[in-house]
Amino acid sequence: MTDDKAIATFSAENRRFEPSAAFRERARIKSKADYERLYRESLDNPDGFWKRETSELVFERPWRTVTEGQLPHVKWFVGAELNVTKSCLDRHLPARKDKRAIVWESEPGEVRTLTYGELHAEVVRFAAALRGLGVQKGDRVAIYMGMVPEVVVGMLACARIGAAHSVVFGGFAAESLRDRINDCQAKVVLTQDGAWRRGSVVPLKATVDKAVLSTPSIEKVVVLRRLGDEHAKVEMKAGRDVWWHEVSEAADPAGGAPEVVDAEHPLFILYTSGSTGKPKGVLHTTAGYLAGTHVSTKYVFDLREDDVYWCTADVGWVTGHSYIVYGPLSNGATCLMYEGAPNSPDWGRFWQIIAKHQVSVLYTAPTAIRAFIRAGNEWVTKHDLSSLRLLGTVGEPINPEAWIWYHEVVGQKRCPIVDTWWQTETGAIMMVTLPGAVFAKPGSTGLPFFGVKAEVVTTDGKAVGANEGGLLVRRQSWPSMLRTIWGDDERFVQQYFSEIPGNYFTGDGARCDEDGYFHVVGRIDDVLNVSGHRIGTAEIESALVSHASVAEAAAVGRPDDLKGQALVVFVTLKPGFTAGPELTQKLKAHVGQEIGKFAAPDDIRFAESLPKTRSGKIMRRLLKDIAAGRETAGDVSTLEDLNVLSKLRAVDE
Ligand code: WTA
Repeated sequence: MTDDKAIATFSAENRRFEPSAAFRERARIKSKADYERLYRESLDNPDGFWKRETSELVFERPWRTVTEGQLPHVKWFVGAELNVTKSCLDRHLPARKDKRAIVWESEPGEVRTLTYGELHAEVVRFAAALRGLGVQKGDRVAIYMGMVPEVVVGMLACARIGAAHSVVFGGFAAESLRDRINDCQAKVVLTQDGAWRRGSVVPLKATVDKAVLSTPSIEKVVVLRRLGDEHAKVEMKAGRDVWWHEVSEAADPAGGAPEVVDAEHPLFILYTSGSTGKPKGVLHTTAGYLAGTHVSTKYVFDLREDDVYWCTADVGWVTGHSYIVYGPLSNGATCLMYEGAPNSPDWGRFWQIIAKHQVSVLYTAPTAIRAFIRAGNEWVTKHDLSSLRLLGTVGEPINPEAWIWYHEVVGQKRCPIVDTWWQTETGAIMMVTLPGAVFAKPGSTGLPFFGVKAEVVTTDGKAVGANEGGLLVRRQSWPSMLRTIWGDDERFVQQYFSEIPGNYFTGDGARCDEDGYFHVVGRIDDVLNVSGHRIGTAEIESALVSHASVAEAAAVGRPDDLKGQALVVFVTLKPGFTAGPELTQKLKAHVGQEIGKFAAPDDIRFAESLPKTRSGKIMRRLLKDIAAGRETAGDVSTLEDLNVLSKLRAVDE
């Protein structure tokens, strides 16, 4: 599956950017020595480290033992009992009762603010409402909503009553939503009539209606009225569908008391793409996830009481879970939340929001940064960005040019940039250049975060030298690590622990340089990263072969200036179907319908047959080279049919 040659990596980038003296002076961690001391402590004395660093969180019962077991199955904070919402909400009352927890801006420009007091009250009411609908500790609740404050209320209300939420990104199609609901057997789905996106209505409830036609576990659909009848009239099915405001108003707040759960009780399931088959339900549990997100948010974003913090991710992805909801709220931060697209009504939208709300910390993705570069500096520079003090990036490797632009044009050379590497599976940030403590290098994700032991190894598990490419692994467990794949522990073990036995394999290729800084080159398994979205090639291929015309399909990535990777598929057709622009459009639409529009292929290439090894495995390396327009350099002697290669090239011309 992996190929050492493909992940050898060289970069000429060696500029270093020190934080300013002014930033360093006020930072939580002020020097490399301070970072190293804490880092050592986190590995040598995890019990002491995590006790001190979680001391402001609320535990009903402290842990007996910091960890138990060995990879793949490790428990953290054994014996502890808690409810995460007490750390995210109750603990802030009364001191932060009137502090803004969420400042929400809709796409058309309305603003709504919820203080910690108000958010607490809403969560308590909605938790009572969910209990009233029959949701109990241990149940699953699916959430299919847009970026509105209620999505946070819904997630926390689940946590309040010990039910696991499974948020499904609002860009997924009905089929994907249905599969996720069926996999985790959700009892209730939370949704809204519709959401604004680039001036159009995303009909979320209508999609839920389609999905729940074949989800026998769903008993109730709770619908938030966001747009109203004028823009998004919905049909309410008697006995199944209820309005959010009605169940909330009718609920007795006394019914919203927190359920105290064990440290390892499921907190949420989040589906993500893997290298094989259907999406995996990554399971995160309670205490370890809370500790990981709490501590990383505080130090990585160097949070201060008066910060206005904005993470631009969608709550449907892990970044939204960890760095819009659990991390910032457990720290008592003021979080900005924006409903719409970055270019609606124009490319100035983000910068206008920053100026309007005096955002001080911005956390976004390289794909967005590249799109802003393309749109032109004037959209950025015409707004007053003097409130910004720290910038962050996540989701894919950031190319040094984009890093420099972010630093100069957005950060005005004043703001450190934290390049944060992590995954749905890691739950929290694992590698980063801590601002104020160490210098940054464009394109490098920096040093391991507290409690993290990362290494780059060969396919045999041997450590490689400085600047040599290899596989990125984790030698030991960490608090916010996924615990299993929902309903399929065997797959969990196989997927993450079989490549390098005894180690967690991230799926990424990387090198570690002479300063101990990690440089991640990207996925080396069959997972693509398109605009920061993880897409499994197997999912795309199975969507394509479900179309009547397709005999066989192979999906690969090709480098793309804007998206990082673009999705290219090679397709062979069944007899009687003709390749051409019409079928191309149909197949793109088909994938959009099966998975979601964001996963629709950029290019479809028709071929008579696909290149395969003698054992019948599709030669993806070859297809990648063809997709990228590169000469094929590798050894092709195992090709079943050498003619296939030239035929594929011919299709190209
Ligand atoms: C990639 C997103 C380079 C990586 C939080 C990882 C990155 C995958 C970075 C996880 C970064 C994420 N530099 N690559 N700073 N951050 N990645 O699960 O390939 O959606 O394995 O989690 O994104 O994607 P996921």
